[in-house]
Amino acid sequence: MAGITSFSYRKFMHEFNPNALTFTEMISDFGLIYDNEKTLNLLKSDGSDKPLAIQLFGGSKETIIKAINVINNLNIDFDFLDLNLACPMPKIIKNKAGSFWLKDQEKLYDLMKDVVLTSKKPVTAKVRIGYDEININETVKTLEKAGVSFISIHARTRDQLYYGKPNFEVLKDIKKIISIPFGISGDIYTVSDALNALNLTKADAILVARGGVGNPKLFKNIDLALNNLPYDETLNLSEQKEYLLRFSGLLIEELGEKRAISILRGIAPKFFLSFPNSKKYRSLLAQKMSSKEDLINILNDFN
Ligand SMILES: Cc1cc2nc3c(=O)[nH]c(=O)nc-3n(C[C@H](O)[C@H](O)[C@H](O)COP(=O)(O)O)c2cc1C
Repeated sequence: MAGITSFSYRKFMHEFNPNALTFTEMISDFGLIYDNEKTLNLLKSDGSDKPLAIQLFGGSKETIIKAINVINNLNIDFDFLDLNLACPMPKIIKNKAGSFWLKDQEKLYDLMKDVVLTSKKPVTAKVRIGYDEININETVKTLEKAGVSFISIHARTRDQLYYGKPNFEVLKDIKKIISIPFGISGDIYTVSDALNALNLTKADAILVARGGVGNPKLFKNIDLALNNLPYDETLNLSEQKEYLLRFSGLLIEELGEKRAISILRGIAPKFFLSFPNSKKYRSLLAQKMSSKEDLINILNDFN
């Protein structure tokens, strides 16, 4: 998730389910080609977030291939190269990137076969069920034919952006259409959300996005449930404070206090969404927190 899945976030979340695959946020092809420092910082990792997929986005085959050559020559330990064919945001679509690729299957095939040939690592792809119309069956076949190894499917169309219910029904037959593994994404907030979506689609993997922000135990609980082990979804206030402090410590170390606190203003309140009487503290975290000391004081006052 852009703006969220920093190295610190991946490292922190990974401790809750060390078998899980993590993804960088979408990385710009131009940022890599022009050696942009901010872009290169998004690729930071010390291996503690592995297995790791680097996610790339771009609007032309030429620039995407150039960017993959840059990645091939960087000294980073990662496992998969993931192509973003899913982003719905206007500034991305304007450049024919993200989910724009889903509109033309011939172009998509032409891109992905060369991506697979160029990348040193196995290639995976993130897609939506369609752009304006649902065409996921065609898309998965195109990607398999191009040599893609794994597909993550966000069960919404581009037109739905991030709203409305994900449509897992249309993914019921994907297993019959392709033989490569696929994962599913969309509104996974609880263990039962994950199990229901997996049951319906017979997917090989489940992707946790917004539901994991502020609820790292969700990763562990899904894994426990899939292994038929007992799990407890209730969140405990002191545990949540401890998790937030751990994540904040990592983020401050990675980005410095100022930048980290500005990101934490968006993320920290989510750790306490389900607690009664948390409203005052959530708004302090979102609006008044300007240092690590503020964070600690707000958490100390919240009981
Ligand atoms: C703020 C935000 C940023 C996102 N950035 C990315 C991204 O960089 N790459 C990507 O593949 N998906 C991105 N997504 C989409 C999520 O990975 C996920 O597919 C989508 O949110 C649906 O899952 P959810 O309903 O469980 O959140 C982003 C979503 C959000 C909310």
